[in-house]
Amino acid sequence: MKDDNLLAIAGGIKDAELREKVVAMLRDPRLSMIETEGSQYTAFAKSPASKRRHHSYENGLVVHTYSTAKIALCLSDIIEEVYGVKVDRDTVIAAALLHDLFKHVTYNEVYPGKYTTSRLGERLDHMSLIIGELYARRFPLDVIHAVAAHHGDNGPIAPQTLEALAVHLADSTDATMSDKVLFAAKDILRDCMGVEVQTLPLEVSPFKVVAAKKEGGCGEVKRRFSGMV
Ligand SMILES: [Fe+2]
Ligand SMILES: [Fe+2]
Repeated sequence: MKDDNLLAIAGGIKDAELREKVVAMLRDPRLSMIETEGSQYTAFAKSPASKRRHHSYENGLVVHTYSTAKIALCLSDIIEEVYGVKVDRDTVIAAALLHDLFKHVTYNEVYPGKYTTSRLGERLDHMSLIIGELYARRFPLDVIHAVAAHHGDNGPIAPQTLEALAVHLADSTDATMSDKVLFAAKDILRDCMGVEVQTLPLEVSPFKVVAAKKEGGCGEVKRRFSGMV
């Protein structure tokens, strides 16, 4: 998935100043006070969203960010249409797109598909990095709050606004969905093909493994994925 998908969603931010700030960060996801240039850091577009769990594959961070923003916007629709309360979509979009932005500088790629924690990642987590940067770039407080609250009760502050809650629930839903599908796909590959897979190759989508099992049982899984895992 291209980061253009993220830019397209950022285009929906109505406030011009906020939109430009978000687009600038997506186009050049760089920390202003810490040097992260150099080959040891994983590039944003290539980065996984975690080392071993959800979206732990190349480009997984962009996929997770895109999905989180889409889910957060769906939740905003529900809050408005079902519960009759207005949601500030600019805040939801900005926070969803930026919530995990600096995960990539917390990883080093050891070899394709295998990541370790970078030197910077051993000192500062992605949440601290993005909050510091948003503060330095003078983002609105409600956007900074929604980013700071995206880990819910497990982060530095729990969501205090509906916008922050929508971003937290979207993040958690997408991460949980990806985790569950990844574990299910590994189980299916073990049961159907007798292979124990640590990391799925990029071309084997765990969603497609689960769908193949539903469509044609183990026979279909073997037909589609033999020789790929
Ligand atoms: Fe996060
Ligand atoms: Fe996330």
